Amino acid sequence: MLNKMKLWKSQKKDIDFDDRFQEVLQHSIPHHIAIIMDGNGRWAKKRALPRVAGHHEGMKVVRKITRLANKLGVKTLTLYAFSTENWKRPKMEVDYLMKLPEEFLGKFLPELIEENVRVTMMGYDKHLPEHTANAVMNAMDATKDNDGLVLNFALNYGSRAEILDAVKNVLKDVNNGIINEGQIDEDTFSNYLMTKELPDPDLLIRTSGEIRLSNFMLWQLAYTEFWFTPVLWPDFDEKHLIEAIEAFQGRSRRFGGLQSEELK
Ligand code: FPP
Repeated sequence: MLNKMKLWKSQKKDIDFDDRFQEVLQHSIPHHIAIIMDGNGRWAKKRALPRVAGHHEGMKVVRKITRLANKLGVKTLTLYAFSTENWKRPKMEVDYLMKLPEEFLGKFLPELIEENVRVTMMGYDKHLPEHTANAVMNAMDATKDNDGLVLNFALNYGSRAEILDAVKNVLKDVNNGIINEGQIDEDTFSNYLMTKELPDPDLLIRTSGEIRLSNFMLWQLAYTEFWFTPVLWPDFDEKHLIEAIEAFQGRSRRFGGLQSEELK
């Protein structure tokens, strides 16, 4: 009897999930979802585990969420995996974080290729250890012709540095006569950012209950819908992503204008 109940409960959960999955597909799916994957350390601490155990568990969630995003038809998934400020962490933790892209891609690259995912990276790759940069470059190369989901890792990424570099490069191009001052508008400036080939995110998710941007995509998030959840990243699963997309679909995006009915 107990087993029957358990079975019914788990089937019910799947039915609920399938229904919600089908329902979100009836409405607009965010083209670009960006995620600040936070709370790995707290997840580990709650279990009396070393912080790196949280990062390792977080890596598994990356796979889960990538697969679902791809199934839903999301075009780009940007994941904040390491910031320009994260170098301040203990060396042991930094070294571990720098090994994760290799481990992840070592395990899942064949699956990503199979699922038509294209891996890209934004961030200061010159400062990454060679083994990390090589693993990412190899995955980028192996998936460059795929035209499904773009899985964009923000690795050694910092938005202020990105914006400052863009300003310097715009100045250089003006001084060299490549562009003139009158041509500097939002579109031109966006082309100097690391995201020049990507649309701005439609939905930003941050896990773990922190409500801040932590130097993430400050320019690109100007009109993005934000969704914050107390769930720690290693506990984040498919139903949480569906929940975030449901919330997104309930928002009215006006980009500073008015809805057509408000204009009447
Ligand atoms: C923030 O949590 C998380 C990070 C700095 C690292 C995020 C990295 C992963 C989830 C794995 C990435 C996987 C791949 C494939 C690159 P925190 O450590 O600040 O958590 P806390 O606030 O609870 O201490």
